[in-house]
Amino acid sequence: MCGIFGYLGNKNSIKACLNGLKLLEYRGYDSAGIATIKNGSLINFKASGKLISLEKKINIKNLNLDLAIGHTRWATHGAANEKNAHPHLDEMKNVAIVHNGIIENYDILKKDLQSKGVKFRSETDSEVIAQLIFKNYKKNLLDATLKTLKEVKGSLAIVVIHKNHPHEIVAATRESPLAIGFDDKKNEFIISSDPNAFSGRNLNVIFLKNNEIAHIKKNDLIVINLRKQKVHKKFEKLNSKNLIFSKKGFEHFLLKEIFDQPLTIQKAYLGRAIEDKGQVEFEHLNFTKKFLSKIDNIIVTACGTSYHASLIAKAYFEDQANIRTSAEIASEMRFKNLLITKNTLVIAISQSGETADTMAALKAAKAKGAKTLSIVNVQNSTISRFTDESIFLKAGPERSVCSTKAFSSQITVLYLFAIYLARLRDMKKREAILFLKELKKIPLKIRKVLKISSLINEQAKKYAKFDSFFFLGRNLMYPTAMEAALKLKEISYLNANAYPAGEMKHGPLALISNKLPVIAFCSNEKTYDKMLSSLMEAKARGAPILAFATKNSYGIEDIADDVIWLEKTTDELAIFPSSVAAQLFAYYVAKIRKTDIDQPRNLAKSVTVE
Ligand code: F6R
Repeated sequence: MCGIFGYLGNKNSIKACLNGLKLLEYRGYDSAGIATIKNGSLINFKASGKLISLEKKINIKNLNLDLAIGHTRWATHGAANEKNAHPHLDEMKNVAIVHNGIIENYDILKKDLQSKGVKFRSETDSEVIAQLIFKNYKKNLLDATLKTLKEVKGSLAIVVIHKNHPHEIVAATRESPLAIGFDDKKNEFIISSDPNAFSGRNLNVIFLKNNEIAHIKKNDLIVINLRKQKVHKKFEKLNSKNLIFSKKGFEHFLLKEIFDQPLTIQKAYLGRAIEDKGQVEFEHLNFTKKFLSKIDNIIVTACGTSYHASLIAKAYFEDQANIRTSAEIASEMRFKNLLITKNTLVIAISQSGETADTMAALKAAKAKGAKTLSIVNVQNSTISRFTDESIFLKAGPERSVCSTKAFSSQITVLYLFAIYLARLRDMKKREAILFLKELKKIPLKIRKVLKISSLINEQAKKYAKFDSFFFLGRNLMYPTAMEAALKLKEISYLNANAYPAGEMKHGPLALISNKLPVIAFCSNEKTYDKMLSSLMEAKARGAPILAFATKNSYGIEDIADDVIWLEKTTDELAIFPSSVAAQLFAYYVAKIRKTDIDQPRNLAKSVTVE
């Protein structure tokens, strides 16, 4: 959450910074800002709202300078306005900083500085860092930053400049990612909280670890620790292809990404499933077969949409591989007594690979000796580097804040991983071949859902007038309903409550009326009849019902007001057509409601605060 970008080099630093921030804007868009040094003075530009407002304020032609730092913000401390936008300066405008993370003791530090007469301009915790660096400054920016780092508690990634050092940047990190990219001749240095900002460049990249400080000067970079000892950092060659940020003719990234799914699911599947042998292989998965075949407990942890994928994973691992599995919301997991043995595998699922809650859960698991695996989309991300092993989704960059294609790729990988584990146990080749064949048909089935998008749009027109919804499902259609409800909440700003249909009679039925529609997911045969009974109960109390059901299912047409018919597949895989149809439904409702679909209010793509 929030994006940091810094530049020192022989090109126009402001231009580089604005371009970098564009690549990071998905991490937060409450405000943006840039600071640079001109003729011995700090210049600072800030604007609330999206980056475009900042761009309008800057005349790049007058600013051909070789150093700049920038930030896109997702508000934590202080309102989302210009005053609280980064970079933050000290009172005397000598130091400018950009910061990701949370300073836990900022209140004490701020009060102390205020008691000494220091004036603050913002409500943020970050400003305290700039004020402290200024206080600690004795002609050496590195020393001043080092001293400040020892005073502040909490998580941080910071980039610092000082008006007396126009060719110098100091960057430091603690529990918050920060990477530095540079060319072979060290003519240019790029600092960023997210390697996405290195897109289109071939760079040598180092990732700073906890309490490491980088001192960057013209053509020179050194890294030290808090004791001021030099740290030898190995760099990785990042051959970053230009990320494709085109909507490819679609009105929104979200719609493009929904339509990407037949292809992205294929990418997650190809090269891993060996259908005729009923085998699954994962590249670079180095757990020993001995460990894999002894796993008797899996804990899957994640947040939001990725957590819904964890719930599906639980069913896959238990039903196919017979391994006891729990799905844990990451922000809750770290506070639990984790029952981890040498045969436990902890799996973290994350699109971004940067989610702080998921990282915290992983750390708690690792501290108890767990073996860890991440299933992530973004390579080189913090989570993928932290876990013992990783499997990548290969879905390509997901631009829309609302996750769609990453979710279906997660389900694909989890299904494959369940078969992989099951084959190391007692799943027969014949059985595995059937499972893989069914999965292979999914992209085609999703294409058929995409073909009826105009019908789904028609239903969205009918239901968009309501303010509140129940999303119901049973068995695997319950996590499907949870995910569908999250999509609607997130992009339409409407209230959507997901329930296992059987629970309605235990209380929530009291809410049912003709003003509260039920969106029903009916594509699990195992619970189909029970689902119909629950829907009858809702209908009897006047609820309008829109059902997503498998073609040729009996009875549902007589109960639901409207039915969207989906392709038949197995109960395990029915989540694919159902969730793609639900994504389209949420998209069209949001369009009718005229919300900011790709960048919904109050949200950010990577949530890097706990
Ligand atoms: C919803 C959404 C979020 C994320 C959650 C976890 O559409 O995008 O709920 O799924 O913030 O993010 P990752 O998967 O990056 O860890």
